[in-house]
Amino acid sequence: MNIRPETDADKEAVYDVVRAAFDQVMEADLVDQLKGNGDSVFSLVAEKEGEIIGHILFSRMQSPEGALGLAPVSVLPAHQGSGIGSALIREGLKRATDAGWKAVFLLGEPAYYSRFGFSVDAALPFETLYPVQYFMALELTTGGLSAGGGAAVYAEPFLELG
Ligand SMILES: CC(C)(COP(=O)(O)OP(=O)(O)OC[C@H]1O[C@@H](n2cnc3c(N)ncnc32)[C@H](O)[C@@H]1OP(=O)(O)O)[C@@H](O)C(=O)NCCC(=O)NCCS
Repeated sequence: MNIRPETDADKEAVYDVVRAAFDQVMEADLVDQLKGNGDSVFSLVAEKEGEIIGHILFSRMQSPEGALGLAPVSVLPAHQGSGIGSALIREGLKRATDAGWKAVFLLGEPAYYSRFGFSVDAALPFETLYPVQYFMALELTTGGLSAGGGAAVYAEPFLELG
């Protein structure tokens, strides 16, 4: 299994992977909107024997400054539970850190995402529209998240989802 940046040629395969992972088109359409709007900062694919089996996207948040939103992360159902999602997340966090991003926010299951360093407590100072028990953050640099909080606002296409 190989993890690499998504290219234009991957667009349709990525759409299919995201739709299959979530069993609906909403997240796949969101991925296309984020790419089309320029809100996507980078996305990675997991490839096995020439087939795209996983995908992750990081998008620019409207605030706080220097923060990325991690969403969605998708693995084809037949390949779930074999470490592909974890590998995509770890590689994405490494690339975000190397590129100088300060923090990453996500909405997800703490039981899964805490293993990568995300915590509900780190996100608590930030105002969000989402349920606080699932809203998590990870600092990529020391002091990357202002202790004073503020609003945590995803890119526009997320807001349209409600
Ligand atoms: C969530 C997802 C990306 C994880 O990728 P994966 O390759 O299946 O996960 P990994 O093999 O790296 O990790 C497996 C671990 O994650 C846990 N896990 C997977 N999905 C989980 C979830 N929704 N909630 C809690 N734990 C979860 C598994 O129980 C397993 O735990 P263990 O290591 O303690 O046994 C993948 O299952 C998926 O595409 N799901 C459907 C789409 C989705 O819900 N995406 C996340 C929201 S953006």
